[in-house]
Amino acid sequence: MSTARMSTEIVCIVGARPNFMKIAPIMAAFAKHGVAAKLVHTGQHYDPAMSDSFFEQLGIPRPDVNLEVGSASHAVQTAEIMRAFEPVLDVEQPRAVLVVGDVNSTIACALVAAKKGVKVIHVEAGLRSYDRGMPEEVNRVLTDQISDLLFTTERSALSNLQREGIAEERVHFAGNVMIDTLRAHLARAVDAAETLGGKPVRGYAVVTLHRPSNVDHEATFRALLEMLNQVAEKMDVVFPIHPRTQATAERFGFADLLKRPGMRMLPPQGYLEMLGLTRDATVVMTDSGGLQEETTALGVPCITLRENTERPITIAEGTNTLTGPDPEKIMQCLADILENGGKRGRIPELWDGQAADRIALALRAWLDVR
Ligand code: UD1
Repeated sequence: MSTARMSTEIVCIVGARPNFMKIAPIMAAFAKHGVAAKLVHTGQHYDPAMSDSFFEQLGIPRPDVNLEVGSASHAVQTAEIMRAFEPVLDVEQPRAVLVVGDVNSTIACALVAAKKGVKVIHVEAGLRSYDRGMPEEVNRVLTDQISDLLFTTERSALSNLQREGIAEERVHFAGNVMIDTLRAHLARAVDAAETLGGKPVRGYAVVTLHRPSNVDHEATFRALLEMLNQVAEKMDVVFPIHPRTQATAERFGFADLLKRPGMRMLPPQGYLEMLGLTRDATVVMTDSGGLQEETTALGVPCITLRENTERPITIAEGTNTLTGPDPEKIMQCLADILENGGKRGRIPELWDGQAADRIALALRAWLDVR
């Protein structure tokens, strides 16, 4: 092996929960295809239930470095990550930095790399909600602008990128690494009956909510919780609650709405527990990006409690329906699902469990010619 191969070729970044299931298959594929990679955890998410449990369940190697930035305002969090990451790049001198998704850790580390003349690779590039009010949309647009190589999960991403002046040669349609993880671990998913201490006889809805647009506005958040109380009259509402949602509910005095009959509040779940809950659900109601894709891959009906999605293929081909936070629309959609079983859907192109292999092979070839 040459000396170049032995030094770090690519520094990979993770920070927040949705990054972990994306990096797991990439690290494994890098090891398999001889790409020398190191892993940096920014520490954006730090609770064991939001971070460590994913490393254990998904077999992600221990991070080589943890920047331990923790929570703060968006500006401070992003700035702290940048400040802490720069000296790591100075020491490692990699040939590229690889970022995934759209969280603050993604843009912060991409920006440090770009400013230091280190190539940036973005996995899950080109997704657009066209809603700049979403912090993630700002992160996506900016990260893509400063990326040298962009790997996409669905074909619509390429036209989004071209509209922003990004050359087609830099964009590779690789498929969906998060679905690699889903396929690799589905057989090990923890049965919902085990997580819930018995299978709910009425069936159940899995609910997740954490977007600022849904939980930071008192009236919207209250209306959503009242709607969930209505759903709980028909079926169990299984609600693994994000720490920011829990904190906001307490601040607004909504504790009672979370305790109504049929509301089954859970702490944040591990990957295998969440996968089992999702697989066995009657319906998923969410504002998460990842769950829109996971439900499509599993063929489970999904109601997305947002006005827009950056993942349009889950609507066009998958099981996803957008309702926004309007309780009437949501209840109507739920009634359709209960009557007709919801959209059938099909598995999108290249959501085949091989995306990380395609990325690793493309990067091996890219590194070898440089
Ligand atoms: C972040 C991502 C979002 C992603 C979500 C998944 C950005 C802009 N947002 O949002 O795209 O969907 O992660 O979870 O990066 N907290 C804890 N423990 C933790 C982490 C956070 O209690 O381990 C609490 C803190 O009070 C913190 C709040 O959650 O202030 C929000 O965390 P933060 O990382 O800022 O954003 P998320 O809402 O988690």
